[in-house]
Amino acid sequence: MRVVLGVGGGIAAYKAAEVARLAIQNGMSVQCVMTAGAREFVQPLTFATLTGQKVITDLFSSQSPEATLASAVEHIGVAQENDVLLVAPATANVLARFAHGIADDFLSTLYLAFTGPVVLAPAMNNNMWAHPATQANVATLRSRGHRFVEPGEGFLACGTTGPGRLAEPAQIVEALLEVQRVRQDWQGETVLVTAGPTQEPIDPVRFLSNRSSGRMGYALAQAAAQRGAKVVLISGPVALHAPAGVERIAVRTAEEMRAAVLARLAEASVVIQCAAVADYRVAQPSERKIKKSDAAFTLAMEPTPDILAELGRIKGHRLLVGFAAETGDLEKEALRKLESKNCDVMVGNLVGEGMGFDSGENEVLLMFRGGEVVNLPRASKTVIAAQILDRLAPLRAAHPAYGR
Ligand code: CTP
Repeated sequence: MRVVLGVGGGIAAYKAAEVARLAIQNGMSVQCVMTAGAREFVQPLTFATLTGQKVITDLFSSQSPEATLASAVEHIGVAQENDVLLVAPATANVLARFAHGIADDFLSTLYLAFTGPVVLAPAMNNNMWAHPATQANVATLRSRGHRFVEPGEGFLACGTTGPGRLAEPAQIVEALLEVQRVRQDWQGETVLVTAGPTQEPIDPVRFLSNRSSGRMGYALAQAAAQRGAKVVLISGPVALHAPAGVERIAVRTAEEMRAAVLARLAEASVVIQCAAVADYRVAQPSERKIKKSDAAFTLAMEPTPDILAELGRIKGHRLLVGFAAETGDLEKEALRKLESKNCDVMVGNLVGEGMGFDSGENEVLLMFRGGEVVNLPRASKTVIAAQILDRLAPLRAAHPAYGR
């Protein structure tokens, strides 16, 4: 595995040398990028000697136009040639610049150009770590699926004690090994993911919809793409950006979602139907804005097509995963939907109480066709997405013909 090791400007920069050494010992190649601050603490020569590679220190390293041109595009090359970006120590400043997309030196520019997994090992003064600004940046970076190697407690260089100390080099390299293990285990798959709500028009300015934020489906799409799958994300209207490396198709109604899913089904080996599709639509949406009157009025509704049930009938060898959002008997209802919609796996989640819909967290029950039931306890949707993919991986292997 090829690792870019970003070294931030903190006293813990000297420990990054040990991280580089251990990573190489574990069979990885290491390309070092040092920030200006890091160079105040450690000499680039230390890393160049350890890694056997040139250390990158500047975005514009030379005054000569040719060399400036070469280094101006170098971050793109480094981004493409490496498998994982590790920053150790990640200072408060590095975390802030990454979180806000500020590209003002080689490392922060490389970060924006890099589409693979990112591992961050923060180190700073305990108050800086605990500050709401830093914690908000950490939350933003976590929500992008980046992995953190938490700082440890202990004596800090500034004379205080508390959390903020760079994690041990062995722990940091263990996180790299973990990335290596899960890295590309979805390579070769084409995953169709649906996400978000649908909007069913009442008239040109009004619609019926639900509280789905799309976050669970987007987290699954992002995780599958990071693990090597080709991902097509068919999304209802949500306020989320398409994850890197994912093709997004925007739809509005259940009917549009059905058409998009069927159009892309042929190429899919796995379908994850995570969207909160409206069950009913207005039978005859008005072409003009409905005018107010004092009288009560009734909207005639009709059922929408059940996309998942249709997929269950035509899925062939594809792995089909449905979601069941419930407020009542989760296990019973999820099992009923697993069978009635002919899915391989049904992911049941209770909605409400700060969970499921419109929330960053989830707790789910995975029900497999063979009868196995697995509970994934409450965690962020990014973590739940990774765990769902972990559980689906053996099913793909056990199903030799599907999708191909
Ligand atoms: N689903 C679908 N098309 C619909 C309705 C639901 O594809 N018109 C899918 C959802 O995307 C989800 C699964 O069916 O993967 C279960 O959705 P859910 O709303 O929990 O169940 P319903 O079948 O709609 O039943 P109910 O609303 O009565 O619980």
